Amino acid sequence: MKHSHIADSAPLAIHGGVPSRPSPIAATVAISDHARARVMDLVETGALSDYYNGPWARQFEGEFARFHGPECRAVAVNSGTSALHLAITAAGIGPGDEVIVPALCFVAAATALVQNGAVPIICDAEPLNLTLDVAMAERLIGPKTKAIIPVHFWGYPSDAKALRVLCDRHGLTLIEDCAQALGAPAYDRRVGQFGHYATYAFSVRKHVACGEGGMVLCQDAATHEKLRRLSNYGKGPGWDDYVSAGFSYRLAEFPSIVGLDGLARLEEEIAARRRAAEHYWEIFQTVPVTIVPEPGWGRSVYFKCPILLPPEMLEVRRQIVKAIGAENVSCRVPHRPLYSISWLAEYLKERHAYRGADECPVAAAAHARLIEIETGPHLPLPEAQTSGGAVIKVLRHFGARLAAPGR
Ligand SMILES: Cc1ncc(COP(=O)(O)O)c(C=O)c1O
Repeated sequence: MKHSHIADSAPLAIHGGVPSRPSPIAATVAISDHARARVMDLVETGALSDYYNGPWARQFEGEFARFHGPECRAVAVNSGTSALHLAITAAGIGPGDEVIVPALCFVAAATALVQNGAVPIICDAEPLNLTLDVAMAERLIGPKTKAIIPVHFWGYPSDAKALRVLCDRHGLTLIEDCAQALGAPAYDRRVGQFGHYATYAFSVRKHVACGEGGMVLCQDAATHEKLRRLSNYGKGPGWDDYVSAGFSYRLAEFPSIVGLDGLARLEEEIAARRRAAEHYWEIFQTVPVTIVPEPGWGRSVYFKCPILLPPEMLEVRRQIVKAIGAENVSCRVPHRPLYSISWLAEYLKERHAYRGADECPVAAAAHARLIEIETGPHLPLPEAQTSGGAVIKVLRHFGARLAAPGR
């Protein structure tokens, strides 16, 4: 068999067999010599931060914006959740405003909305590639709707072009959450170039990681100025010039150096993650699972590789995840759908805006079948082969067990 050097008939690590790899791969950040020297210079000077962001943060913002196109501008912040909150606030989203968000995503967008008293309206997924269902989003637009936040989950681009058309038609703001999809191609651009705002995160396992950090991307000078001000106490250009309420969301200089360094290697990182996923696509043809297909309008940058298990394996999904983990391969059940986060469900029920699994049947059915496996950070092909081999070993074990007579 071509897929792996690991015999898939070997006993599972969870049953006392030898794990597919001796220990898990740590989700660490690679730092070049060049960046190390910059960090050491910073240690010497001690100039670790500045109001309105310091010179390294400014350089990170400039290169990040340039990567996305000449018209783009960026403000660096201290996390992806801060980036979302900043964009939501800059867009004027406040108490009672409704914002359409996908059922399948990470909680941060909902958290940021709730901080402003806004109401996340949970929208189902598109059946083929599990991105935000644009037709349903359109049906959910009502008099209180202010914005749509597609989350490009697992690195798969949502149809941000269609969503922008929808937003323009209804006078809504489009905020793309690109935390898991930095650089993902969609139509003739990259994700983040369709929205009025796009937000990014540089926390653990991201395509660019710097410890903790985030970025907001926008397309014009006035919005950029507003984002800068809101990220820095609401201060205008003058020292004692408090124009509005604001936050303290600046990015420090150490993570800015590390982020810039990661940005320089971004294409390499995307290529490695795609190579890992392409390998999984190839070898998983021998087992009854499906990788979530890429949409016709773009390509995934595979933050993780989402895999749909066949119906007969659903009752052992948690055991499968545990068994793959025991092989020292990173594997999880994806983040729970937004409607099953209890504090959020309660918040929405109080506001008569709860939409649960019955209203999101595609997301509910898919989530019950999903597991996600590692594609990075910086996972070389031989390691991806080990991961893929371990997944096959575990799936074959559970497949055979389920097929065993007398079960
Ligand atoms: C899709 C998405 N949005 C937002 C965030 C929040 O980023 P941070 O952890 O930097 O606040 C994450 C973090 O993993 C994420 O995956």
